[in-house]
Amino acid sequence: MCGIVGYIGNKTAAPILINGLKKLEYRGYDSAGVAILGNDNLKVLKYKGRLSNLEEKVCELTPEGNIGIGHTRWATHGEPNDLNSHPHMSKSGNIAVVHNGIIENYLEIKEFLESKGYEFISETDSEVVGHLVEYNYKGDLVKAVIDCLNEIEGSYALGVICTDCPDMFVAARKDSPLIVGLGDGENYIASDIPAILEYTRDVYILDDKEIVSLTGDKVTVFNNYGIEIQKDVFKVTWDVASAEKSGYEHFMMKEMCEEPKAVRDTINPRIKDGNIVLDNIKLTDEDVKNIDKIYIVACGTAYHAGVVAKYIIEKTAKIPVEVDVASEFRYRDPLVTDRHLVIIISQSGETLDTLFALRESKKKGARVLSIVNVVGSSISRDSDDVLYTWAGPEIAVASTKAYNTQLAALYLVTLELAKKKGLLETEQYKKAVEELSKISDAIEDVLENKEVIQKFAAQHCNAKSIFFIGRGLDYALSMEGSLKLKEISYIHSEAYAGGELKHGTIALIEEGTLVICPMTQDSLMDKMISNIKEVKARGATVMAIAKESNKHVYKAADVVVTIPDVDSFIAPIVAVTPLQLFAYYMALEKGCDVDKPRNLAKSVTVE
Ligand code: G6P
Repeated sequence: MCGIVGYIGNKTAAPILINGLKKLEYRGYDSAGVAILGNDNLKVLKYKGRLSNLEEKVCELTPEGNIGIGHTRWATHGEPNDLNSHPHMSKSGNIAVVHNGIIENYLEIKEFLESKGYEFISETDSEVVGHLVEYNYKGDLVKAVIDCLNEIEGSYALGVICTDCPDMFVAARKDSPLIVGLGDGENYIASDIPAILEYTRDVYILDDKEIVSLTGDKVTVFNNYGIEIQKDVFKVTWDVASAEKSGYEHFMMKEMCEEPKAVRDTINPRIKDGNIVLDNIKLTDEDVKNIDKIYIVACGTAYHAGVVAKYIIEKTAKIPVEVDVASEFRYRDPLVTDRHLVIIISQSGETLDTLFALRESKKKGARVLSIVNVVGSSISRDSDDVLYTWAGPEIAVASTKAYNTQLAALYLVTLELAKKKGLLETEQYKKAVEELSKISDAIEDVLENKEVIQKFAAQHCNAKSIFFIGRGLDYALSMEGSLKLKEISYIHSEAYAGGELKHGTIALIEEGTLVICPMTQDSLMDKMISNIKEVKARGATVMAIAKESNKHVYKAADVVVTIPDVDSFIAPIVAVTPLQLFAYYMALEKGCDVDKPRNLAKSVTVE
């Protein structure tokens, strides 16, 4: 939700800010703006709509100045228009602020400031920040920001510039991500690493309630009492190209094509002499035997990976699993205790509801193991154990390679739990590990045969409503297939357990309704074929996703997309790719903005 960037140095700030915002557009794209400080003059440009609107104006007006902050917005308070866009100015026009997060007590602060003569021109919560900093400003900007933050409830990543301080600016964070880029004679802030990677690989990852003052030569970090603290420099190891389209039309296609590598990178380094070695995870055999129950908590696509995990953990490691969406979990007073393991799944590691669910679990004494893609993210830092997915940066709003790698990591965890409980024979374990290490090749095969899906999507892109049905692991997959389609093609779709369809929803199946059936579970094949017959008898057109050797499916479905003959147990890691491709081609046929679907953002750092 919203991306912020800031620059100070001896170069012209505007192009650096625009460049950074381009890399953060995945976080929100309702409007964008910059504030540039030059010759004691603070210039703010901000426009509704995509970043290209702002870029055009910046090119036309060429605002001069070596200090600046920028923002790309995903609207929460107030519609996306020029006035509600960031940066927001203080009453005097001397202070400009960019904000990511939500100021929960903004109405209270607003009332107070109004009583002091401040006027508000936007509908946003963020506007209070500039005014409150100004109200507190007595010649020390860092102190004014700290005083302001002491009054604020909610979440924030902030950048603050002030005409009185032409050689520095201030930033701060709490529950919204912010990093500091350390350059040579220049420094940066950003919501995420890709925004500054072109300029530096050395960063500080700020912790909650840290405040930082930046000049061209110096970065000083303070705690919320204003006491200076030392930070470790984090060296970014991945290259700029991993966050670029590199010749692909869309990030989403690039990221799907990266799935084989991402899954390989997540699995293979963790297999040593046929055994799974899970980084620094400190769960002993005794710890595992004492786990009464596992809670899996996540949002969106990561939640769907959790649903797959419920099936596989219960079946293999024989531990009961509850899967929850984080926003429900954290408010339902879950019965979590110190005999429970909580598995948190998150690509970004910053999703606010997921982060708070983690903290809630720890408060209740549970041990937390996180499966996270972004190294150094809030979730990774707050967890007891972390298993990183090595998917690399994921930029498209619709998550693809992150899901495959989350599944890969969850399979590793499952086998490890089962082994620690003594539930797997040596041969069984060996075979499972071997299958897992070969899974990337199967995804490669699927990606090489994408034309079948493309053709099918071209024929059906006018569908108004599409059903996904599956049983067992294929039901879990159906949920993800349906979400992918909805989010990028805007076609209404629902996922149903095959057996549940006839309890109501089959009433919606009529001549020409499209039904997508992942069918990778050998033991449930006959049941799924009956389900196909039921929907076809009512006029549905069926596309199945099945293993090559599964000849029965050809007789039942209208179109079959095949995946290689992998073990049913690990099939979801492969079978999701055709579903992602289907959503992609449907969206493309409909002319949708695949990488930046309407109303969505990649990193959801508000509740
Ligand atoms: C947003 C994204 C989804 C993602 C979800 C959870 O809704 O658009 O793609 O699955 O957040 O994000 P996380 O980073 O926690 O996996």
